[in-house]
Amino acid sequence: MLKLLKSIKKSFKSQFNAQSYLGVDVGTASIKVVELSGSGSEIMLKNYGILESSGHLERMNNAIQTSSLKMLNDETARLIKTLLKEMRPGTTDAIASIPAFSAFTSLLDIPAMSSDETTQAMQYQAKQFVPLPLTEVIIDWIPAGEYEDKDGVKKQQIFLIAIPREQVQKYQDIFKTAGLNLRILEIETLSLARLLTAGDPTTTLIIDIGARSTAIAIAKNGILRYSSQTDFASASLTQAISRGLSINVHRAEDLKRQKGLTGSEGAYGISTLMLPYVDVTLNEVKRVKGTYENNYHDSVERIVLSGGGANVLGIEKYVSQQFSLPTVKAQPFSHISYPPDTAPFINTIGPSFAVALGLGMKQFGKK
Ligand SMILES: Nc1ncnc2c1ncn2[C@@H]1O[C@H](COP(=O)(O)OP(=O)(O)OP(=O)(O)O)[C@@H](O)[C@H]1O
Ligand SMILES: [Mg+2]
Repeated sequence: MLKLLKSIKKSFKSQFNAQSYLGVDVGTASIKVVELSGSGSEIMLKNYGILESSGHLERMNNAIQTSSLKMLNDETARLIKTLLKEMRPGTTDAIASIPAFSAFTSLLDIPAMSSDETTQAMQYQAKQFVPLPLTEVIIDWIPAGEYEDKDGVKKQQIFLIAIPREQVQKYQDIFKTAGLNLRILEIETLSLARLLTAGDPTTTLIIDIGARSTAIAIAKNGILRYSSQTDFASASLTQAISRGLSINVHRAEDLKRQKGLTGSEGAYGISTLMLPYVDVTLNEVKRVKGTYENNYHDSVERIVLSGGGANVLGIEKYVSQQFSLPTVKAQPFSHISYPPDTAPFINTIGPSFAVALGLGMKQFGKK
């Protein structure tokens, strides 16, 4: 059974009475919900909530979901309901994310053609990289750019996504049980790309370090170009401290948050215990970056860190050194306004809300 560690609730009076939407991010260790409302080009945070499970630290099978473990429908619906009861949002219309590990994606270079023709071509293309019968997946595609090749032939880049029908059904069931109207389901890397690169043509590598999985996205202009993930993430750091110092995971979690990668306290220093796991994660990111750069002849120019794991002190500097690239912590609120009294929230737990915010943003013209 999942334990409720904490739920934070805050709702604000908004000057907008317009339709609002919920962005719902069901992670491995927490569920995060934001309610966004919009007027013209302005998007405003109306309400947010987080429900964290502490169980995932102690027992592997206490995670809400992982790439190997199936999410429990009733349990997840119950957790969402608990959170909504606290938040009391003004809408039941929801947009939800599915983890990067639940979908198959590919960036394709194909000749320019009409939208209908592209839809047909995608059926054939999907066969090449989806290891399931096509009747078992839902296929979607997004235009990712146009160019002329060296022979002057017009080409288009298409980001192709295939989600198993079983996964979609699962989310539909969970949201229905939780009393929500699930309008759109999208992979979390799409939401991250929208939120963290909208209006910015810089090729950006987004590393969203969660508790049990790290989502890796390459994007520019708000459009996702490459999506991957690894199971190494921030809970691995907590476990390394716990094992290294023979202390319980809760104490280890506190130490991780206090000390981070700063300071060097000798062989058993906190950062010394964590670095091998940070390196395993970053090696996977380097592999993904290399694949993208070689296949698409495009170079990553900067790195943005999001997810709760981006809060580990000193991680930006370490990542920047490892990749020799400018690295920043995500500023998820650069396109979204918020009441001034929420600034402490924005600065501390803001990066872990990146997926939920990117989802909510989808309804307000930022594709
Ligand atoms: N201030 C902090 N300092 C260090 N680590 C932190 C801090 N805040 C949160 N974390 C870590 O971030 C992780 C949770 O991140 P996040 O909320 O993005 O995960 P999640 O979305 O539930 O999981 P996932 O993305 O794996 O499904 C935890 O491992 C937690 O220890
Ligand atoms: Mg997450």
